[in-house]
Amino acid sequence: MSRYRIAAVCLGNICRSPMAEAVIRSYLADSELAADVTVDSGGTQGWHEGDPPDPRALATLRAHGYPLNHRGQRVDATWWDRTDLFLAMDASNYDDLMAIAPSRPAEVRMMRSFDPALAGRVPGDPGLDVPDPYYGDDAGFERVLAMLESSAAGLVAELRDRLYPST
Ligand code: 4NP
Repeated sequence: MSRYRIAAVCLGNICRSPMAEAVIRSYLADSELAADVTVDSGGTQGWHEGDPPDPRALATLRAHGYPLNHRGQRVDATWWDRTDLFLAMDASNYDDLMAIAPSRPAEVRMMRSFDPALAGRVPGDPGLDVPDPYYGDDAGFERVLAMLESSAAGLVAELRDRLYPST
C-alpha cells in the first residue's frame, strides 16, 4: 500500500503540533502501522519557520521518553498534495485549515476527536481544543501531552481498523 500521511497542525508549530507529531510517531512505532503511516507537523502561521520546538515542549517530551527532531514549517495549499489526514489542535486551526484548503480532498479532523472519551463532539466544540500552552506555565505542557496521548491512542486504533479492515 502507499504510505498514509498525517500532518498535525497548530498555530506556530513550536508547541502543540510538534508534540503531537512526536507522540503519534511513537504510538505508531509500537503498532503494526509503523511502516505504512508517516507523520509531519506544521503551523498555520510562519512566525517560527526553521525554528526548533519551544524548549518547554522539548523538555516535556524528553521527560516522557518521546524523541523529536523537527523545525518549524508553515502549512500552505501544497500540503494537500502530500497529506491524507490533517489533525487540527483547536477550532481556530481547523477554520484556518479550511480556509487554506484547495479543492483537492483530504480529511481534516480535530486531534481530540480521536479520544474515545470525547466521541460525538463536532468541530467548533471547545471541549475538543488542545489549549495553546505558549503563554502559560510548564503544567500546561503536561496537560497538552496527556490530551495528545489519549487522542493518539484512539487515532492509531482507528487507523488500524481503516487500513487493515479484516484483521
Ligand atoms: P503552538 O503555540 O501553536 O502550539 O505552536 C504557539 C506558538 C507560538 C505562538 C503562539 C502559539 N506565537 O505567538 O509566537
